[in-house]
Parts: sequence; C-alpha cells; structure tokens
Amino acid sequence: MKRYHVTTFGCQMNVHDSERIKGLLESLGLGEAGSADDADFLVFNTCTIREKADDRLVAHLMDARAAKRRDPDKVIVVGGCWSESMKDELFDQFPFVDLAFGPGNIHRLGDYIQAGGEIPRGHFSTFDTFSGELPLKRDRDFQAWMQISTGCNCNCAYCIVPSVRGREHSRHPGGLIREAERLAGDGVRELTLLGQNVNSYGRDLRPAVDTSFAALLRGLDAVHGIDRIRFTSPHPKDMRADVIEAMAECEAVCEQLHLPVQSGSTRILKAMRRTYSRERYLALVERIREAIPDVALTTDIIVGFPGETDADFADTLSLVDEVGYDHAFTFVYSARRGTEAARMPDQVPDEVRGDRIERLVERIQHHATARNAALVGTVQEVLVEGPSRTDPSVLRGRTRGGKALNFTGTALAGALVDVTVTGSTSQTLSGRQAAPVAAA
Ligand code: SAH
Ligand code: SF4
Ligand code: F3S
Repeated sequence: MKRYHVTTFGCQMNVHDSERIKGLLESLGLGEAGSADDADFLVFNTCTIREKADDRLVAHLMDARAAKRRDPDKVIVVGGCWSESMKDELFDQFPFVDLAFGPGNIHRLGDYIQAGGEIPRGHFSTFDTFSGELPLKRDRDFQAWMQISTGCNCNCAYCIVPSVRGREHSRHPGGLIREAERLAGDGVRELTLLGQNVNSYGRDLRPAVDTSFAALLRGLDAVHGIDRIRFTSPHPKDMRADVIEAMAECEAVCEQLHLPVQSGSTRILKAMRRTYSRERYLALVERIREAIPDVALTTDIIVGFPGETDADFADTLSLVDEVGYDHAFTFVYSARRGTEAARMPDQVPDEVRGDRIERLVERIQHHATARNAALVGTVQEVLVEGPSRTDPSVLRGRTRGGKALNFTGTALAGALVDVTVTGSTSQTLSGRQAAPVAAA
C-alpha cells in the first residue's frame, strides 16, 4: 500500500482541510505514514498569511526536494493558500513539485491521484466545490470542525486571504444540519464552525434560501447530542443583534467569542478597511457582555500597520485595557503581495514594530492572567480530552469559555464534568473534579 504524510500550516481552516485531504487519500486506497520519511506521497497544506509562513514552508520544501533526490519515486504535492498564491510560478521555482492545488479544489486530488497511476502535473485554482462535502478523517472523537462557508468578501487592506480563498460561498443550511446530526451520531459533542467571516454566513444564499448565521446557530443548537458549539472567526461588522441573541439563548453555544479587532485606532481601522471604529467596537463588546455576562473574549491584533504612529499604538493598548481580553493573538504586520497595504507609504520600521509587539504581548498577558485568576474558586463545565500530555497523572479538557484546564479526577475522555478551579496562570487553569450532585 502506498503511504501519505500531510504537513499542515496555517489556520484551523487548513487543519480541517487536511482532514479532508487525508480522508480523500484514504478513499483512494492510501494509508497514513508514521512520518514523512516513510511516506510515498508528501503533502504540504500551506499558508501564506504572513511572510514568516512562506519562509517556513520553503524550508520544508527544500527538505522534500532532498528526500526526493534520495528516492525519486516520492511524490510531492502542495495544496493550500500559498500554493494558490504561487500558481503562476510554482512549477518554475519548485520544479520538483509534482502536483499543486488550491484550497478550492481539494476534491480534484482524486482525479489525479489514481491508485498506482501516473501523476500528471497540473494546477487548478478556480473554486469548484466545498471541501466540506468530502470524506474526512478526524483525529478527535468528540470534537469536530464544520466548514460553513469559504472565501471572504471583505477587503481588509493587509490581507491576502480573499485573493487565495476567493469570494464567500456558504454551504446550504440543510446540509450543515444533516452533517451535524451525522457527527452527533458518531459521538461528537462539540462543533466548531469555521469560516473567514462566519457571521456573514448565508448572505450569498438569500433570498433563494431563507437563512442567516443566527438561524444556523439555532438550527445546530437543536441537534440532539451536540452539547457545545463554537465558531471562528466572526467579523465585528456582522455581529448584529440577532447573532448576539442566538448566542445568549442557545444552550449549546459556548460563552466564548473570538472577535478580531486588529487595532484600537479608528484612523488605522479605517486605513485597514475594517469598516468599524474603535467606538463601535467597544459598544459592541458592551452589548455582548450585557447579553452574555461571563463571555470569554479573545481577539487578533496587528501592530505596525503602515502609518501606525505612537498615538495609534497607544490607542490599541488602551482598547486592550478597556476590553480586558481573555487572550489575544498578536501579529507584526507583514506586507503581502497584491494587497493594498503593501503599496502604502510609511511602512513602520522593524525595530518599532518589534518594540510595539513586545509591549502589546506584555499587556495581553497581564489581562489574561487576571481573567484566569478571577475563575479560581468557580466550578466550570469541562469537556474531557484525556490525560494531559505533559503530566499523564492529570486530566485535561476545556471549559465552555475555551480555556484549557488540567485537573485531578476520574472522568473518561468525551465526558462533560464539573471541575472546581483551584489555580491559574496566564495560559491555563488547574482544578479538581467536583463531586457529582446526587439526583434529587
Ligand atoms: N478571517 C479571519 C482570520 C484571518 S487571518 C478574520 O478576519 O478574523 C488571522 C489573522 O491574521 C487576522 O485576524 C489578522 O490579525 C492576521 N493577519 C492577516 N493578514 C496579516 C498581515 N498581512 N500581517 C500581519 N497579520 C495579519
Ligand atoms: Fe482577511 Fe479581513 Fe477577510 Fe479576515 S475578514 S479573511 S482579515 S480580508
Ligand atoms: Fe493561512 Fe490560508 Fe488560513 S493563508 S491563515 S491557511 S486561510
């Protein structure tokens, strides 16, 4: 049997796409290799969101080239966003690559990888269908991703995603509900909905299909066996009252929200084309906290966007203080080819960007520590993932707020248990399983 190995870069969307790639390869009769060394098919599912992502990938490709020199039968396959962004040059610059495809045509792999057959070279970039409909190989029994939409209609000035993932397409709500029912039947208890802009879901289907993100949340909430629903990432501009209401009212929808802000300066937000101001974002956070008081809020922030001054950066720090995030992903701005921001004057010097990111990370840590410490003494519902990787004598799971929690107890993986929180750091919580309450 031929064996494959998939190396995945980038976001959850790509991790999920890799599940589809693996499922598809297995349906063609290939088996998963324990390591890249043992594989006949080396698959790279790539990311190009920042320059660092490209650099890391190229290093991996050079290793693959060396492996192919030792064993010319190895097949090198490159998929994902970087592949799409390189479609015109990929085979010239990396002639050892056998097959390349973009995120919109994972399903075409099947046409080209015939068991034992020749592999012609090719690249397919147009959006054909959802990887969401493909077979799938999941690593976790109790948790699953569901791609509800693909592509992005926003024009964030710094972002390469719309050019590599295309326009937004939503999957049909009926198909999504059926998929959730199927997953629940397989034992899945937690669903994470994926999309570049999840809460604009359905706009491209209307008016033919009467749906919306809020309606989808309500539909999935009603699926028997699904105890937890999360989603990433919503855009603040589409975080309307109906979505907040659905979040507050649906029992399965977790008290967790990743709400990318990118900057705390209205001036920079405007240059980024985020279409909201600092004030509107803060007002939104207030409405969300009113509706869902214990919501865990996380965000994405970019420092060093072209033209960002000390005063703009100070606005970002003060917004972080006002919101008090549970956690944030922080990025140094990276110019991406073809984007509007890459052509802007006033690119911020490296030292300034480095200094700003350090100060921002420190501030984020401060709030994360405080937010986690405030949970000490509370009882949290935890979905048990199994023994902790670093200390197998304790169990590990996640709270509804999405926080990792290591605890002493006897529960099995996949169980929902109550845990009393006894300790915290900026990253994790610790605790002990609460005694079950006897049924009255
Ligand atoms: N669609 C999602 C995620 C996009 S990529 C969303 O809009 O939230 C994840 C994060 O990477 C973005 O939120 C942004 O903070 C960051 N990012 C995107 N392009 C970037 C760039 N050119 N430089 C630095 N960070 C970037
Ligand atoms: Fe990129 Fe903006 Fe779309 Fe997110 S919403 S994928 S940051 S263009
Ligand atoms: Fe990267 Fe593509 Fe995700 S560029 S961050 S893998 S959408």
